[in-house]
Amino acid sequence: MNGEIVVVDDVTAAFTTTVTEAFRTRPNDGFAIALSGGRTARSCYERLAADAGDAIDWWKVDVYWGDERCVPLDDPDSNYRLAREALLDRVGAANATYPMRCEEGADAYQLRLGELGRFDLVHLGLGPDGHTASLFPESAALDAPPGRLVVTNDDPLGTNVHPRMTLTFEGIARARLVVVTVEGEEKIEAFARVRADDPTAPASRIGAERVVWLVDHAALGGATV
Ligand code: 6PG
Repeated sequence: MNGEIVVVDDVTAAFTTTVTEAFRTRPNDGFAIALSGGRTARSCYERLAADAGDAIDWWKVDVYWGDERCVPLDDPDSNYRLAREALLDRVGAANATYPMRCEEGADAYQLRLGELGRFDLVHLGLGPDGHTASLFPESAALDAPPGRLVVTNDDPLGTNVHPRMTLTFEGIARARLVVVTVEGEEKIEAFARVRADDPTAPASRIGAERVVWLVDHAALGGATV
C-alpha cells in the first residue's frame, strides 16, 4: 500500500481537518475536489458541512466525483445526490460541480479532467471487498489502458449494484492528495489485505503524490501501525 496511516478516534472530524488544511494550503486560488460515495462519505460530508465554517470558501471549490452509479442524478443511489444532500446544499453554491453523467459516456469526463490537470484532493472509501471508487475486484477498469483517467465499469462479482463510471488508478494519481477514510469493524479484513499489498484488493493500488489513510480503531481490529 502507498501512503501514511493515521489512526483516529473520529474519522469524520479528521476528514474535516484534513480537507480544510488542504484548502488552506492549496497552491492555486481554486480548489478541485473529487468526492466519494458510501455511508462513510455521507457522514464525512455532513461533518464537513457542519464544522468547516469559513475555513473553506466554497466559491473557490470545483466539485468532481471519483465515481458514480449510472442512475438519474436524483436517484437515492446517486453519489451526486449524496453530495448534494450531505454537503453542497448545506454550504451554499460551489464554484462549479461536474457530475459524472453515464449517458454521455466516459470520454466527456476524460476531456474535462484533461483540461483540469490535477485534483487538489480526491476522497476515497474502502469497500469490504477491497474496492475503492468503483474499481471492483476482477473488473475491467483495473486494467484500463494507459492514459485513461475515467472509464465505465461494472462489478463482475455482482456485489456492488448498478453500472458505474469511475476514476481509474491513473485518474486517482492525478491528485495532489488522496484521503481514504476507513471506519468500522466491517473493514478489518479489507484494510488488512490492503496493508499486505494483496493484489486482489484494488485499494492496495491507490497511489498519488500524497496518500493519507484516516482509519479508526475499529477498522484496525487490534492490529498495530
Ligand atoms: C460508492 C463508493 C464506494 C465506497 C465504498 C465504501 O459509490 O459506493 O464510491 O467506493 O466509498 O464502498 O462505502 P461505505 O463507506 O458505505 O462502506
